[in-house]
Amino acid sequence: MRLSFSKLDKLPTIAAGPDNTMCNATPTRCRWACGNQCAHSEPNVSTNETFTAVSQRYLSRRRVLQGGLAAGALLVLKATPLGASPATAHGHKTEASTEGSGLAFEPISLTRGDQVVVPAGYTSRVLLRWGDPLFHRAGGSADPGTITFEQQLLAFGYNCDYVGFLPLPGDRGVLAVNHEYTNPELMFSGYSADNPTKTQVDIELAAHGMSVVEIRRHPRTGWQQQLDGRYSRRIHGFTPIEFSGPAAGNTLLRTTEDPTGKSVLGMLNNCGAGLTPWGTVLTCEENFNQYFANAGLVTDPATRTSHQRYGLTTGASERKWERFYSRFDLAQEPNEAYRYGWVVEVDPADPGAPVRKHTALGRFKHEATSTVISMGGRAVVYMGDDERFDYMYKFVSDGTFDAHDSNGKVNRTLLENGTLYVARFHDDGSGQWLPLRHGEAGLTAENGFADQGEVLIKTRLAADRLGATKMDRPEDIEVNPKTGKVYAVMTNNSRRTEPNGPNPRPNNRAGHIIEITAAAGDHAAAAFEWDIFMLCGNTSDPTTYFAGYPKEEVSPIACPDNVTFDNRGNLWIATDGMPAVLPGNDGVFAVPIEGEERGYVRQFLSGVQGCEIASLTLDDSNETLFVTIQHPGEGSTFESPSSRWPDGRVPRPSLVFVTKDDGGTIGS
Ligand code: FEO
Ligand code: CA
Ligand code: CA
Repeated sequence: MRLSFSKLDKLPTIAAGPDNTMCNATPTRCRWACGNQCAHSEPNVSTNETFTAVSQRYLSRRRVLQGGLAAGALLVLKATPLGASPATAHGHKTEASTEGSGLAFEPISLTRGDQVVVPAGYTSRVLLRWGDPLFHRAGGSADPGTITFEQQLLAFGYNCDYVGFLPLPGDRGVLAVNHEYTNPELMFSGYSADNPTKTQVDIELAAHGMSVVEIRRHPRTGWQQQLDGRYSRRIHGFTPIEFSGPAAGNTLLRTTEDPTGKSVLGMLNNCGAGLTPWGTVLTCEENFNQYFANAGLVTDPATRTSHQRYGLTTGASERKWERFYSRFDLAQEPNEAYRYGWVVEVDPADPGAPVRKHTALGRFKHEATSTVISMGGRAVVYMGDDERFDYMYKFVSDGTFDAHDSNGKVNRTLLENGTLYVARFHDDGSGQWLPLRHGEAGLTAENGFADQGEVLIKTRLAADRLGATKMDRPEDIEVNPKTGKVYAVMTNNSRRTEPNGPNPRPNNRAGHIIEITAAAGDHAAAAFEWDIFMLCGNTSDPTTYFAGYPKEEVSPIACPDNVTFDNRGNLWIATDGMPAVLPGNDGVFAVPIEGEERGYVRQFLSGVQGCEIASLTLDDSNETLFVTIQHPGEGSTFESPSSRWPDGRVPRPSLVFVTKDDGGTIGS
């Protein structure tokens, strides 16, 4: 069925659902992770316009401009030549699929099983599981429930999220993998949320962060870990990390343990990430609020206000880490929470290089980064703040990229200074990046921003003042290397109550994807244009839209989360939260962006019970797809797990890789 405004206009207004459908299904999800579909963070109460309001006016205006032609039809026509029938325009599945996009795999169906499912002709294998040692000195693999603190410091962490691949000569490579958070109720036998032990807390801190793992391709069984690899490394909750940029040393970053405000122990809740053109990883601290207690006892009014905007807990934290470490007790260390929520740069090629939190990129619930070089040579980093009604950002460096900078002396400084912008979407399909500069647009001492450092530490409050556009949980943002267009993924927003409209929707439980074009193709430009690429959901839902592609041919998809591009320019999508919307586990989907198959979504992989597909990437040959299976069995316990993947025992978050049985390109 084609999207038609005339049809959609008659839809009844959908009342906002219960606070969180998914939350009812998996009660721990809201506590620990980034689902954010329930109300454990303070909502953005600024009066900034929501994306729904803007987009409704935008599409209304387009309808007027077309003299009555439905705006939905206009969107369809962009993908379909005038006068062509859908079948002619898009071709039949198998005939056209090997031409433009190169995607020819037989899509799988939604499934609720406890195994990873891939199309016929493909095989998935587990490469790294929680607790797998990265070094011989870890003493071998620990059984779930028995891992020690010392073993965890040297082993693959919990809840793998981002995965990035860096090729090495000779069928070798390096994986950088985030470990976002921990599920202690699935890690430890007999775990008590009321009375965790210090040993359990220490193991959890050691299970956070990042694993850098050297891997080698085996001719028969595919990729295997290289124990004691030259580049292998663990970064965790105890790793010393430096601050860089305008907020480094700021009085708000100073604590009892660090009176200089220039260093911090560990990175927490590292969710998505992205590679830079100079070979480093920018990994993102997301829902850091869950680690801190007693924001209600903070005495400084400005700090109380800021902590409230970031959703910090007023009383005891769910994790109770504050019982063992005073830095997690805001009553004792009110500034400690300011030291999390940053983008962290790691150099996988240099295990000795310092790990740094770049304050110039702002402090919020960072989902991921996508870094490109502008026409003038500046580094541009696109970023989303993954909370309902929060914003999209980009950073533009002051300095310029040096392609011949072999030792990184120039490029490693690019993120120290530059301008942070927040997005405002206009009614007419245009948009504007608004700079967050101290002294401008009310970002002054009188309004609570003493200097540029405070603008960056309180990024959300600064963006509120600028009138940024409220979004539906901006997760990953990725630049298509073929076209330069930017794809911004909105996972969902079940709390939106604005009037029903074609796009995006109130009670947006299934999420959508926005397509952004930088003015004149220059990513450093202040202006952009935007359009809608996809409104996700079941294909029987008349409010869905797949770039105009016939719905009867696409795979149903919901809650898009993280994305990547293959080397043909197709978008690959990982989902988080799909079971709340569709009768299937979270999965991986591929969709062409250009040509006759634009919008033709096909499901490539299905995950296991209770998991999300947290991240995905392809190797440089595009013959391997790496996928992280995060929080399998979430919502259950060690004693009674809902998933027993991958070992038939308690679930273990794991990284899998998929190859084609004939050794060909993924998706072909
Ligand atoms: Fe951790 Fe927003 O995903
Ligand atoms: Ca995510
Ligand atoms: Ca991505």
